[in-house]
Amino acid sequence: MSIDITMLRAIEILDSRARPTLSVTVELAGGAVARAGVPSGASTGSGEAVELRDGDPARYGGQGVRTAVGHVNGEIADAVCGRGFADQTALDQALIDLDGTPNKSRLGANAVIGVSMAVARATAAQRDVPLWRYLGPAGVSPLLPVPHFNVLNGGAHATNPLDFQEFMIAPLGAPDLAEAVRAGAEVYAALRRRLSEGGHSTGLGDEGGFAPDLSRPEDALTLLVAAIGDAGYTPGRDGVAIALDPAASEFRQPDGTYHVGGEKLTSEDLIARYRQIVEDFPVWSIEDGLGEDDHDGWVRLTEQLGERVQLVGDDNFVTNPAVIARGIDDGIANASLIKLNQIGTVTETLHAMAVCRQAGYGAMVSHRSGETEDSFIADLAVGSGCGQIKTGAPARGERVAKYNRLLHIAAHHPELPFGLRP
Ligand code: PGA
Ligand code: ZN
Repeated sequence: MSIDITMLRAIEILDSRARPTLSVTVELAGGAVARAGVPSGASTGSGEAVELRDGDPARYGGQGVRTAVGHVNGEIADAVCGRGFADQTALDQALIDLDGTPNKSRLGANAVIGVSMAVARATAAQRDVPLWRYLGPAGVSPLLPVPHFNVLNGGAHATNPLDFQEFMIAPLGAPDLAEAVRAGAEVYAALRRRLSEGGHSTGLGDEGGFAPDLSRPEDALTLLVAAIGDAGYTPGRDGVAIALDPAASEFRQPDGTYHVGGEKLTSEDLIARYRQIVEDFPVWSIEDGLGEDDHDGWVRLTEQLGERVQLVGDDNFVTNPAVIARGIDDGIANASLIKLNQIGTVTETLHAMAVCRQAGYGAMVSHRSGETEDSFIADLAVGSGCGQIKTGAPARGERVAKYNRLLHIAAHHPELPFGLRP
């Protein structure tokens, strides 16, 4: 059954940070209609596919996406409408070829990924299969992923002095998805109580986590462990574990040092700091522990901690299959973050996940700090069987949309297993 697009249309909508993004609607010959909302990052890797912004200071401070919208409604619609595609891969390849650049900078990765996602959703509807089943590669078992709730925000996602960007709770010990979501929400509530009792602000960062005036990551971790206990859970892999995304590229200085909580650390110092953190706290996963260009540091970090914790590449891997493959060869990290808009098509995203799977690397599907109500990544995480998703706090509509989609999938498909990939 080929993919036959009869109508393609984009408009400018808002993301969760009040910045414009694209909503893309597609209609197929069989009558299926579907829509996709495009996410947008703030702490981006330099190798990401290019998000096209208008740069017109008279609109949205230059952040408008009318140019990208125009590309969907003009050039892309002209190229794909009325033309049958054998499958998603063929459609995505046509988009890549039409753009013609290595990083989708001509048409805009925001335009291209919106079309790719909308077509995937419409095709699934047309075939009367859930999106997660449509996205699942042959021979890969679907799996309900362990949610990673980002409950404390810092770095580029908040104005507090916390340099580490994300402190996530991961209910690895939960018996099923619904109980994992409950654990996330209960710890979030307990953390709010602890913060207010301690005189801290309970204001939120961009991903819905609290953004208190803390600067030392260890102080944030101490609070988090206490909140896990308050909520009645065991801190650790048997109960609720912790995952970090320091997003270290953001606090790496031009001289190669890292500034954390007012201290100036070398790459080696920061690795030693992580070793101590892993000793003292139930941290099971560290993403972007070092800067994207600190290649030697990443090799040493992986040598020293790779057996003990999951080390996730994000800014350095940018969901690019070739870059991830190089990292695997170089002995960097043992898992990759997966973001659709970092690479720009559904097919390339699935390819990046296949590269991880074949190398025994973990893969964690991720939202962006700027999001819409689109819950595509919930289906991507289930269908790909990767076992892990991070999509912010268990609060704020654009974050909860993804967790709620997972709850719906779990309720309709009680046969689906839950947990990390075995
Ligand atoms: P971003 O951050 O969406 O702002 O890029 C998310 C991350 O670093 O994982
Ligand atoms: Zn990250």
